[in-house]
Amino acid sequence: MRKKISVIGAGNVGATVAQRIFDRGYADVALVDIIEGLPQGKALDMLESGPVLGSDATVVGSNGYEVTANSDIVVITSGIARKPGMSRDDLLFTNMKIIGDVTRKVVEQSPNCILIVVTNPLDAMAQHAYQVSGFPRERVIGMAGVLDTARFRTFIAQELKVSVEDVHAYVLGGHGDQMVPLTGYTNVAGTPLSQLLPADKLNALVQRTRDGGIEIVNLLKTGSAFYAPSAAVAAMVEAVLLDKKQILPCCVMLKGEYNVRDLFVGVPVKLGAKGAEEVIQLVLSPEEYMELRKSVEAVRELVGKMHEKAKTG
Ligand code: APR
Repeated sequence: MRKKISVIGAGNVGATVAQRIFDRGYADVALVDIIEGLPQGKALDMLESGPVLGSDATVVGSNGYEVTANSDIVVITSGIARKPGMSRDDLLFTNMKIIGDVTRKVVEQSPNCILIVVTNPLDAMAQHAYQVSGFPRERVIGMAGVLDTARFRTFIAQELKVSVEDVHAYVLGGHGDQMVPLTGYTNVAGTPLSQLLPADKLNALVQRTRDGGIEIVNLLKTGSAFYAPSAAVAAMVEAVLLDKKQILPCCVMLKGEYNVRDLFVGVPVKLGAKGAEEVIQLVLSPEEYMELRKSVEAVRELVGKMHEKAKTG
């Protein structure tokens, strides 16, 4: 029997995630949204691409959660996206309500699933889904690092005129302006980036990576990025489905690793059939560690606001 992946939110990110998974043909997909007809229409359209693509998987759309029952993985993309002038944090209270509600309904239908959270502000939403679900930390994973790292790798490959596949990089920390591209661990087919680029060029690429989301928002004007985010989600889904034990930067609950406790932060994680199977502890330079601390404090502040709101309503 094929595995089952559900995607909540049939907007730009959700529908593209569903499409990428359906196209690969190895999992059945359920797509859920509150807008009547939207998930049904997109799912049917996708299904009808099967004969052309050679995918025998099924994809169904619904406004209810019954279709998601017994999913192996549930990807949560529901919520509002940024418009120009908005930070990811501006989405906090609206999306917190949506994520709480959606997570409860998902868990009712699929108590053993692995949750992949995409909705922004990512770190806080992943933390909220974790608390509402009551799942062990292995089974709640936020998607940010694969995307941020992909942006960094794209810019490096463009600058150096090399294959994107030869660029190895990690971006850690929160999915915000304070994310930490680890330049010390970044290399092109083994050669450290510091030997290939002068410091000012490197700093410019780091800054462009930090602003990667807003660069797209400013161009699109009506929404935020979805091609690269959906590709990042598909890579994480694949690592879990195929039990790849692949080490990818993901947002997970830390319990003392990197000196962070009880907070969702982006770190390298081994992804396999059980979800986030292991947090990989990299040795950071003092500068990288300081930057990570700053990023962690920004996440902690946001999560604090969320907890305050949950108390006061
Ligand atoms: N249940 C199900 N779906 C919902 C709910 C809900 N309670 N609330 C909103 N949605 C749906 C909307 O109807 C919409 O179709 O979520 C979808 C969001 O789609 P888009 O507006 O196209 O946003 P998208 O670009 O997909 O981004 C979604 O991912 O990357 C993040 O910052 C981004 O938080 C945003 C999320």
